[in-house]
Amino acid sequence: MVSLSKTTTEVFKDSKICKLVIISCFISCLIFISSFSSNSLFAQENSDCMECHADPAEVASKVRVDHVTGEVEIVTMVVDEEEYHASAHGGEDFYCIDCHSDLEDSEGEHYPNLQPVDCVTFCHDDPAATFLEGSHASLMQEKGVQLPTCKYCHTGQKSKMNTPRADNLEHRGDTIEKCGGCHEKYYRSYRNNLHGQVTAMGYVGLDIATCVDCHGQHTILNSADPESTLGPEKAKETCGKCHPGAGNSFVKHVAHPAYKDVGYYKSALIALKNIRKDPAEIKSIVKSPQTLLTVLFVAYVGLLVVTFAQFGTHMLLSWLGSILDDRKENKSDHG
Ligand code: HEC
Ligand code: HEC
Ligand code: HEC
Ligand code: HEC
Ligand code: HEC
Ligand code: HEC
Repeated sequence: MVSLSKTTTEVFKDSKICKLVIISCFISCLIFISSFSSNSLFAQENSDCMECHADPAEVASKVRVDHVTGEVEIVTMVVDEEEYHASAHGGEDFYCIDCHSDLEDSEGEHYPNLQPVDCVTFCHDDPAATFLEGSHASLMQEKGVQLPTCKYCHTGQKSKMNTPRADNLEHRGDTIEKCGGCHEKYYRSYRNNLHGQVTAMGYVGLDIATCVDCHGQHTILNSADPESTLGPEKAKETCGKCHPGAGNSFVKHVAHPAYKDVGYYKSALIALKNIRKDPAEIKSIVKSPQTLLTVLFVAYVGLLVVTFAQFGTHMLLSWLGSILDDRKENKSDHG
């Protein structure tokens, strides 16, 4: 201890070293002060932004062109604090300038048009990769369909900035519409199934299946692929999340009933016509659980039609009969 302090004082007695220390102190002080005078000290707190953006007297609505779709939209510049704080990024750890990074060094008033927020580069390159490089995205590209952006699927009710959490019920309902917007046929058949009917009634809790609960979120594969969430083995797990003990026969349940789809009957007719040329086609149709469902549906509708036809004919005949009777009575009254 003693010897150490001795050496330290000895060192400071050495004027060269002393000068060096003083100079380096001075330089670091300069750097410190200059960093204070730069804008970074005034890097805006959320409250600075909100001074204008919470106040309808300061900011109004604005007409803006979406940089991806080219759609003209009217957006309010007033930030809904309640929705923002309930959103996935509304916690204390997020700053407005994390996302609106072109305002990082600005202060107070700013130029009117900012860069669109980039979800991928700094924060979400992982989920972006599973989506952008996944087979679903490449299938879309093959079909010439423009890829939906992150903000398209992860949008808030009042503003795109309010990225909803996965358990946000409105968002769950919205996701069904988003998937359904590109998959109309499957959307319609989903709505003919119990899951789709319950969600159509407005119940979209985490315990009822939306498209993504069965098909997956970013990694969406064809149900025939063993790796798919609906592959023969994995389906038991996927359905099992909500139907404990789901077994081989349970997962054969028809999630997309086709009995109201004219195309289904057409393809069955074509297969029937080609029965000699391609017997495998009709076999696979007969084997599919879809067919049993369709037969039941047709039989049910048939029964209804026959019953009502009989009932209707009965009513019609008795009505005609009563008119005839009336006429006869009238005639005999006058005669
Ligand atoms: C002095 C008031 C004021 C402050 C402070 C302010 N803004 Fe703004 N901001 C505005 C006004 C006014 C507009 C609308 C501009 C227009 O009409 O084109 C706007 C527009 C915006 C837009 C939309 C830009 C676009 O391209 O359409 C964003 C995003 C934004 N502000 C974010 C912020 C953030 C983040 C902060 C804090 C770092 C902030 N603002 C601080 C007044 C302010
Ligand atoms: C997680 C990222 C994120 C954070 C944090 C964030 N925003 Fe945004 N903000 C967005 C996105 C995304 C948009 C939609 C426009 C776009 O794509 O650039 C947006 C749009 C806006 C707009 C334009 C209105 C609209 O609906 O398009 C304003 C104003 C705005 N933000 C202000 C703020 C303020 C103030 C804060 C801090 C309290 C903030 N933002 C925090 C991502 C964010
Ligand atoms: C076709 C719709 C769709 C698109 C496009 C999409 N996502 Fe998702 N993403 C989902 C769904 C559905 C979930 C499940 C949770 C939820 O609903 O919020 C999810 C979950 C997430 C999650 C949370 C779970 C995780 O994997 O960490 C993040 C982060 C995410 N997405 C980021 C992105 C980014 C970044 C992009 C753009 C490259 C993107 N998403 C594009 C539908 C989409
Ligand atoms: C922008 C349009 C678009 C959106 C949004 C979209 N898809 Fe697709 N999807 C496609 C296209 C295009 C294909 C290629 C096959 C086809 O034409 O049906 C496809 C294929 C699929 C397939 C079959 C994959 C295969 O390998 O055969 C499934 C399952 C699927 N999508 C489910 C979903 C789900 C679930 C969502 C919502 C999270 C969704 N899609 C959102 C356009 C879209
Ligand atoms: C209960 C689980 C479940 C739900 C919910 C569900 N699907 Fe499916 N989906 C399936 C199964 C199982 C198949 C394969 C058998 C078939 O075609 O009926 C399938 C097939 C598909 C296919 C054909 C490609 C393939 O992978 O076989 C598309 C596209 C598709 N679904 C889209 C959707 C969309 C869009 C929604 C929401 C509107 C949705 N699905 C909801 C279970 C589901
Ligand atoms: C996110 C949860 C969830 C997932 C995943 C899910 N279901 Fe369901 N399913 C429900 C709910 C909720 C009902 C209606 C309430 C009930 O079961 O009585 C239902 C009803 C059903 C019914 C009607 C008969 C019954 O038990 O009432 C069948 C059959 C069914 N689901 C099959 C499946 C199959 C097959 C899968 C997988 C491809 C699947 N479900 C995935 C939640 C789910």
